[in-house]
Amino acid sequence: MLILAPSLLAADFKNLAAQIRAIEEAGAKYLHLDVMDGAFVPSISFGMPVLSSLRGCTDLVFDVHMMVEEPGRYVEDIKRAGADLICVHQEACVHLDRTVNQIREAGLKAAVALNPATPVSTLKHILPELDMALIMSVNPGFGGQKFIPYALDKVRELRAEADRRGLSLDIQVDGGVTPDNVEELIRAGANIFVAGSAVFKGDVTANTRRFMDIFDKYEQAEADV
Ligand code: DX5
Ligand code: ZN
Repeated sequence: MLILAPSLLAADFKNLAAQIRAIEEAGAKYLHLDVMDGAFVPSISFGMPVLSSLRGCTDLVFDVHMMVEEPGRYVEDIKRAGADLICVHQEACVHLDRTVNQIREAGLKAAVALNPATPVSTLKHILPELDMALIMSVNPGFGGQKFIPYALDKVRELRAEADRRGLSLDIQVDGGVTPDNVEELIRAGANIFVAGSAVFKGDVTANTRRFMDIFDKYEQAEADV
């Protein structure tokens, strides 16, 4: 299934509940929540109090992207705040295996993100333990950046590796994703798409529907074969 995960970072923070309702009604399934600590990435965004407050206003899957040094320290807190999935950066975890296991033992979906310059091969051993891998297509820290084209090669390589090993891995892409490049990402093998600016700048409902129409086209084509 092709899934849109709008990134809250680009939303209008005065109107979060209404914006979340709009993406949910227009067909998004995930809400991508970018937690930043000012250390792993330069910015600071939001944390547990915002997550738990939003949990009360939506049933969307909470996809928490931890751009935080040693995120293993927060697994229980993030779970309590309502996360369904926790994504940690390979580059931010000295003991990645332990952190991934902490997430799984907490009963949540586990994901690992790779910065643009981190090779896909670094996931070789941990891959069977993951529900999802996130290929960053910008350097993390800010919304509204330009898509880095070589992320496409990384998606292709990872999908080929997962298929070769019979793993049903979700592959998410985050950064500069728009209706103009999402089709190439679908063809490369990604299935979960984070979009911040492309969803929240302008008409949120119409922007979300543009992605959904593209997903419907691909899913229909697949159902026809
Ligand atoms: C970047 C964040 C992204 C960001 C995406 O560090 O991880 O989730 O919000 O925003 P756009 O879609 O505007 O590139
Ligand atoms: Zn993100």
